[in-house]
Amino acid sequence: MQITILGGGGFLGRKLAARLAREGSLGGEAISGLTLFDLHAPPAMEAPFPVRCLGGDVADPEQVAAAIPDGTRVVVHLAAVVSAQAEADYELGMRVNLHGTLAVIEACRRLATPPRVVFTSSVASFGGGQEARLEDDARQLPGNSYGAEKAAAELLLQDASRRGMLDAVSLRLPTVIVRPGRPNKAASSFVSAILREPLLGLPTELPVPEEFAVWICSPRRAVDWFLHAMAMDTAPLGLDRGINPPGRSATVGKMLSALESVAGPEARALVKPVPDAAVEAIVGGWPASFTAERARRLLGFSEQESLEEIIQGFIEDDLAATRAERGL
Ligand SMILES: NC(=O)c1ccc[n+]([C@@H]2O[C@H](COP(=O)([O-])OP(=O)(O)OC[C@H]3O[C@@H](n4cnc5c(N)ncnc54)[C@H](O)[C@@H]3O)[C@@H](O)[C@H]2O)c1
Repeated sequence: MQITILGGGGFLGRKLAARLAREGSLGGEAISGLTLFDLHAPPAMEAPFPVRCLGGDVADPEQVAAAIPDGTRVVVHLAAVVSAQAEADYELGMRVNLHGTLAVIEACRRLATPPRVVFTSSVASFGGGQEARLEDDARQLPGNSYGAEKAAAELLLQDASRRGMLDAVSLRLPTVIVRPGRPNKAASSFVSAILREPLLGLPTELPVPEEFAVWICSPRRAVDWFLHAMAMDTAPLGLDRGINPPGRSATVGKMLSALESVAGPEARALVKPVPDAAVEAIVGGWPASFTAERARRLLGFSEQESLEEIIQGFIEDDLAATRAERGL
């Protein structure tokens, strides 16, 4: 089975690639090759199958077609400009997040056999804010350009699936914590920073009140969901290719308590409240909770770990590499 990961050099792309290399198969079938595509060619990796690492622009149809050669069975489309950056730079967000997805559809429809396409949409494609607990059929009313681009991409992938050009599963990911490395340009960057930076012994700022709730998931679970979406039977989805996976709703205060129980009060003391109206204006519109019944009961997506387990997972999987990367 040939697999392509677009955005394969990013946070979740690298984790998915490492997991595929560890397992060597997907849905009981051996992986025969993996293509990793990103703005800069991702570094070579050890795997029991050949890995091609390509640099290119997901909005360039020819470069995307080269990353999705005939015989590709699964495409995981993660390449994107993140929320605050897409809000700050309208042209860039539209080019990568919308036109990039159009280029992916174009490349897929040229294949002899329609591939499975796993697309990462986002909680940011919804509105509703702190009070919301959204049902599976809630309308997507994004309050930012990133969310609008993700919702538009979902709709186009759904239509391409109906036409038999590809077979899409769009996962509306929660905010994934704990993100390793450095703070990034996502408006939700602070949700990881308030856990990661103290674990590195560094101070960090909390731009929202402690009662602020966020819909989250762990990177381990996000990768489990990708693997499930890459191999699942899509017949039960019908026309509705958008899935709200079972994340967890947690207040910032609960996250800080979990940090304290794992790493002690000195870790929590490194988090200083510094209100930031610009960040709150973006993340304040995102819904804090979903029922996620369809994903849980009908489609077999796995549940979240506890907050303590999520923090422990970061310590086990990413703390040492983050220290090394940042020269700490
Ligand atoms: N991490 C989260 O909390 C979260 C939450 C909701 C949705 N998502 C979505 O999940 C996906 C993966 O997220 P991530 O955290 O790994 O993001 P990431 O930013 O770490 O990875 C995305 C990758 O896309 C690449 N990219 C950007 N522009 C490109 C272009 N023009 N051509 C080719 N590649 C390009 C980037 O270089 C990056 O490596 C993204 O689509 C993101 O929008 C993530």
